[in-house]
Amino acid sequence: KNVLVMFGGRSVEHEVSVITGLQVVENIDKEKYNVIPLFITKQGEWYTGDVLLDIKNYRDLNELLKKANRVYIEPIPNNPYLKFYPEKGLFKRTKDPIRIDVVFPALHGTHGEDGTIQGLLELCNIPYVGSGVLGSAVGMDKIIMKDIFKANGIPIVNYTWFLRKDYINDSEKVLKHIEEKLKYPMFVKPANLGSSIGISKAKNREELINAIEIAINYDRKVIVEEAVNNPMEINCSVIGFDNDYQASVLEQPVSWQEFLSFEDKYLRGNKNSGMKSAERRIPAPIEDAKASEIKELAIKVFKCLDCSGISRIDFLVEKDTMKIYVNEINTMPGSISFYLWEPTGIKFKDLIDKLIGYAIL
Ligand code: DAL
Ligand code: MG
Repeated sequence: KNVLVMFGGRSVEHEVSVITGLQVVENIDKEKYNVIPLFITKQGEWYTGDVLLDIKNYRDLNELLKKANRVYIEPIPNNPYLKFYPEKGLFKRTKDPIRIDVVFPALHGTHGEDGTIQGLLELCNIPYVGSGVLGSAVGMDKIIMKDIFKANGIPIVNYTWFLRKDYINDSEKVLKHIEEKLKYPMFVKPANLGSSIGISKAKNREELINAIEIAINYDRKVIVEEAVNNPMEINCSVIGFDNDYQASVLEQPVSWQEFLSFEDKYLRGNKNSGMKSAERRIPAPIEDAKASEIKELAIKVFKCLDCSGISRIDFLVEKDTMKIYVNEINTMPGSISFYLWEPTGIKFKDLIDKLIGYAIL
């Protein structure tokens, strides 16, 4: 089977996606699958060619792209295969399109994890790994996500939200609204971003204003949440589809201070390796009954957003009371959360195989 692994993309999580995509390419069962890499530039151009697998060794991306093939897509409804026309020379297309049996969108954030690519693939009738349009879209928007969690009785922190435009028009009104609804300290987050980008903590009005001014650079919608007192971060991955779900072992990311920043998650101390450097405790040091409760809740979250394939659900546990809050879901988690499945006996290779299996069943 031809598996198209997509990575890069137009979101601010472009670099993280390159890491995830290359990990998938590296770990996929080569005897079973023929991998076709598809790199999406930050501008949204599509390229293919095995030269892309060498992306980490190129300092000048343009040099690499000169050796790759530009790809144009032609979505044909009810056609079982997405047809790719690698460009040979200017405006000339090869006669034979590459047949794609299944797509692995190893993309994070907007234009990849948010239902857009999923929608394109639905139109083309191409199977793909991960959640569909609905689950992906809802999982991307922290406001809509929390509204749905709330409606389903899933425990979340108090939150409110506003539009950038409202803040620009009348910032005093927005600040007052936030302070009426929530207690400091608060977290201010762009509604549609991942990898902790654009997130700040605010302990007072002055910090709130600074935090908002950062967040509105990234998104036209901003969510503000009450901070959990003395929190422990716990993550759990879920795989499966159609009410046949399985929760992974729990992890506690530990190298964080106020919260796990983008630098902590991906960049700290590893300029060349491209691997995540955040330390994590697996399994998380938490008693069995609590761990089971978290796993059950993770599955409930997965189900209520109608997810499929894989997700990672991130929790905050208040250490003093052990009260659990669901923080968010990632429908295409970094590194496909493989490290949460290996301790349960599912190797990365088998995890990829399972996910492709769900897609083409
Ligand atoms: N959004 C990043 C990739 C994650 O949560 O893993
Ligand atoms: Mg995220």
